[in-house]
Amino acid sequence: MVLSVRVRDLVMRYLRYGLHEGICVTIDALGKVNTAPMGVEVIDRGPDADIIIRPYPETRTSMNLRQVPEFTLNFTHDPVLFFNSMFRKQALTLVSSRYVRPPRLGGCIDLVLECSVRAQYRDVEGRDLIIGTIKGAYECMGSKIAYSRGASAVIEALVYLTKLMALATSMSCKERAEYLRRIDEECSLAIRVSRVSNSELRHICSAILRLAKSYACSSNKGVGEWVSSATRSL
Ligand SMILES: Cc1cc2nc3c(=O)[nH]c(=O)nc-3n(C[C@H](O)[C@H](O)[C@H](O)COP(=O)(O)O)c2cc1C
Repeated sequence: MVLSVRVRDLVMRYLRYGLHEGICVTIDALGKVNTAPMGVEVIDRGPDADIIIRPYPETRTSMNLRQVPEFTLNFTHDPVLFFNSMFRKQALTLVSSRYVRPPRLGGCIDLVLECSVRAQYRDVEGRDLIIGTIKGAYECMGSKIAYSRGASAVIEALVYLTKLMALATSMSCKERAEYLRRIDEECSLAIRVSRVSNSELRHICSAILRLAKSYACSSNKGVGEWVSSATRSL
């Protein structure tokens, strides 16, 4: 499908780096909505652009896309929305989409892509490779917060946390401790660089650390020793 010049310009302006993080919204055959952060690759094909996402096959996103091959991608750099899309789904606002059945997210979203699945493969790493066609793209209210190292650090901590949660049973205690250390590092950076008054960010960091600790081995002596002073008080 050839995109209109306006839609193509909008997509390439926002997603010009080719690799971005977004929040993917899908529905199952009964219409039940699922939200999950996903890495998004954009391939510029001249008048057109391909959208690629790679959900692990056991994720709800992957299963939903087999039932209803449509999705929306919601781009923001607000870590609260990333956190909510995984752990506080009831706090999200869902808004009807224009071209596809799954809804989009309301609130502080910069750009929405409404997509349909053109092809679905399994790649060599066992991940699904989903190629999407853009049905519609438009700007929304936009992030309330400016881009910051603190916000990026929280999103990075969430990436480590999701890996720890998905792979904990196949990881050694040492590997789990390493993930916990990285999460602690990202959260402590977030706390250091954000304003002390940002209580929501502190609350989210505290929840991320609590969850991460629950996946670390209880036999891990010394976890408390290196948990940084910035996050120890959370
Ligand atoms: C920023 C970010 C990017 C992510 N990208 C992916 C991805 O590309 N593929 C994937 O399978 N999981 C990715 N994850 C992890 C999933 O969002 C997470 O496992 C989620 O729980 C899957 O949800 P679902 O089972 O509801 O689909 C990412 C997480 C974050 C925080």
